Amino acid sequence: MPNPETEAIHQSLKRCHQHSDFIRIFYDEFLDDAPHIQAKFADTDMNRQIMMVEASLYTCILAADDVPYAVRSIRDLGRMHHGMGIGSEYYDAWLDSLIAAVRRCDEQFDERLESIWRDVMRESIAMMLAAGDAQDAS
Ligand code: HEM
Repeated sequence: MPNPETEAIHQSLKRCHQHSDFIRIFYDEFLDDAPHIQAKFADTDMNRQIMMVEASLYTCILAADDVPYAVRSIRDLGRMHHGMGIGSEYYDAWLDSLIAAVRRCDEQFDERLESIWRDVMRESIAMMLAAGDAQDAS
């Protein structure tokens, strides 16, 4: 059953999605002035990427509630990102860009919601990085 924190972030995500450019705002922020990050998306179909990341945010919320399907998906994502040479050094900027996009798109955004967003997303980031590291160890 979702706990109050994941329910709060779920509602926040739904408000963000009422803003049609939510994920595009996130990518504008993430790629802005960062050639090393832009290089990773050199061959990416950004329309498809936006859809996939939009969906994956729901999966991150479910993973924070230990839903097994979601945890498996996030670990798979971690292995995939690790395989693309995306290590821990990229994730702070990713999370800051996401928070900047939520701040612009959720009219109820406040410090409490920011802290919940960061906690929930850090859980998924930790799962992704651990899955990538485990791949090296095996
Ligand atoms: C919690 C953090 C993240 C989540 C939830 C996430 C989510 C996703 C998803 C759902 C995909 C598509 C997977 C597929 O095609 O099967 C993807 C692809 C990708 N992500 Fe992430 N991502 C995260 C962090 C990052 C970071 C930090 C970077 C750093 C540059 C990054 C760069 C990429 C790239 C380059 C692709 C492949 C694009 C392509 O197919 O050309 N991601 N990500």
